[in-house]
Amino acid sequence: MATVHDGAATVREAVDRHPLVPLPHRVVSRRAWGADVVTLGLEPVDGEPISYRCGQFAMVTAFGVGEVPLSFSSRSGPGPLEHTVRDVGAVTHALATAGPGDVVGVRGPFGTAWGVDELAGGSRAHDPVVVVGGGIGLAPLRGAIEVLTATPDSARRTTVLVGARSPDQIVFDDDLDRWGAAGATVAVTVDAGARGWDGHVGVVTSLLGPRLASPERTTALVCGPEVMIRFATRALADRGVAPGRILVALERNMQCGLGWCGHCQLGPLVLCRDGPVVDAGRIGTLLEERER
Ligand SMILES: Cc1cc2nc3c(=O)[nH]c(=O)nc-3n(C[C@H](O)[C@H](O)[C@H](O)COP(=O)(O)OP(=O)(O)OC[C@H]3O[C@@H](n4cnc5c(N)ncnc54)[C@H](O)[C@@H]3O)c2cc1C
Ligand code: FES
Repeated sequence: MATVHDGAATVREAVDRHPLVPLPHRVVSRRAWGADVVTLGLEPVDGEPISYRCGQFAMVTAFGVGEVPLSFSSRSGPGPLEHTVRDVGAVTHALATAGPGDVVGVRGPFGTAWGVDELAGGSRAHDPVVVVGGGIGLAPLRGAIEVLTATPDSARRTTVLVGARSPDQIVFDDDLDRWGAAGATVAVTVDAGARGWDGHVGVVTSLLGPRLASPERTTALVCGPEVMIRFATRALADRGVAPGRILVALERNMQCGLGWCGHCQLGPLVLCRDGPVVDAGRIGTLLEERER
C-alpha cells in the first residue's frame, strides 16, 4: 500500500509533501508555571526550525496518544519554538509531562496572526497597543508581547493587562516583570485573592480604567476564555476602539488545521484558516448568538 513516506528520503521530505505528517521535534526545555501549565521548548530532530508568526498555532502530537492545537507562545527566531500547555485531558497531559529528550510531533504553522510587526515598527509604529490576556490565554500573546517590548519605543506604547482566577494561576510571572522593566505598562488582577496577595482583585476589564488615551489609534490584542473575550471586546468598543482594531484569538475543536474537515466552523468562519486571530468587526455578534 502506498504511504505518504513513499520515496521520501527523510521525515522532513515527507512533511514537505503532506501537511498531515507531523515533523518530529525534541523537547529541549521544560518550565512549569503552577500546578498544571508547562512551557516546552522544541527543536526539530532533523533540519531547519519551522518559521511562524505570532498568533498562529500548530497541531502538536503526543505520539501514541493524539494531536491537539496549541498556539506558539514564543516569537519565531533562532531559539527553540515554544508551546505552553495546560494539562486538561489525555493529550495535553502527555505533553505537559514530557521532558527534555522526549520527541513530539509538530505540523504547521496554521491560521492568522496578530500582525505585530506592523504595530512594533511598521505603518502603525506610533500607535498604542493594549494586550488583554486571561489565564492560559496569555500563551498566544506572549510572542507578540516579546516583539512589542523588544525596543524601548514600542514597549512604551504597550499596555499588558492580565487576569487570572487566583494568584497561583498567574503564568509567565518572570516575563511580566521583564516586560515591565523593558518599558511596558503591566497590570495583573485576580478574580479571587489569597493569603499574601496584595495586588488588584477584579475582572481583567476593571484594569482598563474609564477611558483610553487615544482610543481611535489604539489596537487591542485579546485572548482568554470566551466570556472574557466578549466582555473585553465590549469594554474596548465602549471606550472608542474601532471593532476592526480589536483582534481576538478564538478556539474551536480543530482536527485538520487545513480548512478541510469543518470541525472549527463559527458561522461563516473556518477558524483554522480565517482565525484563530479575527477582528471583532468580523465576528460581530457570532459569539453572543452561540450563547443563546
Ligand atoms: C487554535 C487553538 C490554540 C490553542 N492554544 C492552546 C495553548 O496555547 N495552550 C493550551 O493549553 N491550550 C490551547 N488550546 C486548547 C487545547 O487545544 C485543548 O486544551 C486540547 O485540545 C485538549 O485536548 P486533550 O486531549 O488534552 O483533552 P480533551 O479530553 O480533548 O478535553 C479536556 C477538556 O478540555 C476541553 N477542551 C478541549 N478543547 C478545548 C478548547 N479548544 N478550548 C477550551 N477547552 C477545550 C474539553 O471540553 C474538556 O473539558 C488551543 C486550542 C485552539 C483551537
Ligand atoms: S480544523 Fe479542519 S477545517 Fe478547521
